[in-house]
Amino acid sequence: MEQSLPSLYSCQPAPSPAKMFFAVNLLLLCAGISASTNLQCTLMSMKLKQIDAGAGEVYGVTSNDDVYRWVDNHWKNIPGKLIHVSAGPAGVWGVNKEKHIYKRQNNTWMSVSGLLKQVDAGGDKFLGGVNTQDNVYCLRQNDTVSGSSSVTWTPLKGSLKYYSCGPLGCWGVNSDDDIYFRHNVNPTTCQGTQQQQIKGSLEMVEVGTDGSVYGVDSAGHVYRRIGINDKNPIGTYWTRLDFSFAFKHVTYDRGYLWLITPNENILRCSVSA
Ligand SMILES: *[C@@H]1O[C@H](CO)[C@@H](O)[C@H](O)[C@H]1NC(C)=O
Ligand SMILES: *[C@@H]1O[C@H](CO)[C@@H](O)[C@H](O)[C@H]1NC(C)=O
Repeated sequence: MEQSLPSLYSCQPAPSPAKMFFAVNLLLLCAGISASTNLQCTLMSMKLKQIDAGAGEVYGVTSNDDVYRWVDNHWKNIPGKLIHVSAGPAGVWGVNKEKHIYKRQNNTWMSVSGLLKQVDAGGDKFLGGVNTQDNVYCLRQNDTVSGSSSVTWTPLKGSLKYYSCGPLGCWGVNSDDDIYFRHNVNPTTCQGTQQQQIKGSLEMVEVGTDGSVYGVDSAGHVYRRIGINDKNPIGTYWTRLDFSFAFKHVTYDRGYLWLITPNENILRCSVSA
């Protein structure tokens, strides 16, 4: 990546594994070398292939396409089969293996027109997503809240394999792991104004509801974007979280970083400043 910084975190299994009700079978202490930041991580007994935390909700899917929601400190099965799920200000959305799109409404999955392989509900009540050809689309707020199953997707220029939105813009990565930021997205002009390439290389990138940006590269390293604010929504550089093992997926919301290993183990880390 563009900056090589000293390791921020080094994680060690706690001397005696802590057993906790339902979810936790091992406590990992990730001591920040920087005194200002700490990660305290727990390895969960659940396995998921994908997870998304947003707007206070956490949803994930297993390798069998079963859907789970993290609620009251345990994983609750939600009826339905999805390959990808997203929770955020736009609600809870998912896609199934036929690439059909669903919105969680009245405790059921309502089918919505279109075909996508990944959706993201992190925008200001608008939706982003990509299809199997890596074409990028968004759905305006009036269509995400309409309750109608027939919606009009807005196509975006460019080609991305993963796309995620937050309050200050949307981030995506293409098939070469190049990173792009889309400026000035909003509920009515969800496609934004222009796209800018960001230095670095990531396999996936996720924007939190608070605007924080995390990503994972092809080596399984986890990065956080530093310096993001209203005036500089692209931030300034990537900093690597120095875990001693690899991950394939990351998401962040409300003080918790959720990480998935290549074997689909889940690490839940509280991030304290
Ligand atoms: C949403 O807004 C767009 C642009 O103003 C309009 O073309 C479209 O018909 C609206 N959709 C709904 C469901 O109202
Ligand atoms: C959801 O349920 C409420 C109460 O039963 C009902 O009024 C509303 O029409 C339902 N919405 C949809 C989109 O089905």
